[in-house]
Amino acid sequence: MKLRRICTGAPVVGMVFLSASAVADIQGSKHDLSTGIPEANGEVCVFCHTPHGSDTNASAPLWNKALPSTTYTRYSSLGTANLDGTEVAVGSVSLACLSCHDGTQAVDVVINKPGTGGYNAAGSELSTATGSNLSGTPIPNLGSDLRDDHPISIDYAGGACRGSLADCDPQTAATGDPDFSPAQYASINGQNQWWVDVASYATDAAGVNIESGTADVREKTDMLLYTRDFSGTEGPSVECASCHDPHEATARPVSFLRIANAGSGVCLACHIK
Ligand code: HEC
Ligand code: HEC
Ligand code: HEC
Ligand code: HEC
Repeated sequence: MKLRRICTGAPVVGMVFLSASAVADIQGSKHDLSTGIPEANGEVCVFCHTPHGSDTNASAPLWNKALPSTTYTRYSSLGTANLDGTEVAVGSVSLACLSCHDGTQAVDVVINKPGTGGYNAAGSELSTATGSNLSGTPIPNLGSDLRDDHPISIDYAGGACRGSLADCDPQTAATGDPDFSPAQYASINGQNQWWVDVASYATDAAGVNIESGTADVREKTDMLLYTRDFSGTEGPSVECASCHDPHEATARPVSFLRIANAGSGVCLACHIK
């Protein structure tokens, strides 16, 4: 699935945006780890994906890393007064992110290396050089203490949309937290999917909207919610990739955000504040 962009400007302006999105991709970004590791054969995707022999425990597609078995300290253990969403085990796509971002595993550990004979179910390093674990705690190496990070693997809107197989507005739902934006629902390919629709997500220097999504369509520039099992009921959960797209290299103001965070656009997509 490629980022879909709908350009509203004159045709010539549209062309400019299309070429801008082409150079904004993962190649050369902070998630392009191939530079400096000749064993990677210049391959960008191999650090995260493999066409064969991937880790089937991972909820991220064709995942080329063993998932961490780290015990995490959760946000809820802070005991903030207003938290009403239930946390489920750190999982889904978040665990795939944490397979590098909790710092326990070198970033160049992969299950299936480029070429023949490089398969190792437990994973092994591409480079013979040592010391390639993420450094810099608490970011970008989040470590195992997630109390200082935005909650993940957590109910959207205090569970207002759990099991609700229709678009759901927490403001009118019988239970849950009304301080959240509506969640969209669709059964896509037989799977329950929820997301928070983001209508417009980028403005030019004059504040004019230049990029927008399609309403009611699940796109990479929406805040994607991930389906988790909350005590036997499927429901939408906030995970790392709700806010982040690991392939979108545009600085907004850091790379890998789904939409620009100018004016706290990321935060205000979900929180009514
Ligand atoms: C740093 C890790 C990382 C790298 C490198 C990476 N990906 Fe991904 N990719 C992910 C994660 C994590 C997901 C799951 C995202 C989600 O569930 O929303 C994903 C999802 C995908 C998907 C399915 C969902 C989507 O967004 O379309 C495709 C296709 C994909 N990646 C292709 C690629 C290709 C091709 C490359 C190399 C050019 C690549 N990825 C490089 C981490 C990575
Ligand atoms: C994808 C939707 C989503 C986005 C985007 C989002 N949040 Fe949240 N946020 C949540 C959910 C769900 C919770 C859990 C709230 C609860 O259960 O009470 C939460 C919790 C919080 C809390 C803790 C509340 C408490 O009671 O301890 C704060 C503070 C917060 N978010 C701030 C932010 C900020 C700042 C941003 C932008 C950088 C942001 N959020 C972006 C969904 C989101
Ligand atoms: C294969 C290892 C790996 C995986 C998997 C991975 N990352 Fe990263 N990520 C990195 C490295 C390396 C950096 C660069 C760190 C630095 O600047 O020192 C980075 C940087 C980032 C940054 C900072 C970008 C900036 O502009 O400073 C964000 C945000 C990020 N990653 C989010 C994610 C998310 C979200 C996921 C899962 C969807 C993920 N990453 C999965 C290795 C990984
Ligand atoms: C609710 C939204 C949200 C969630 C969930 C979230 N992030 Fe972020 N993250 C952000 C935003 C917004 C920024 C940019 C902050 C800034 O501008 O300094 C960011 C920044 C980062 C950075 C770069 C920080 C820096 O200053 O260099 C990394 C790395 C990162 N996130 C990784 C992750 C990982 C891994 C997860 C899951 C464990 C995650 N994020 C979950 C919103 C989120």
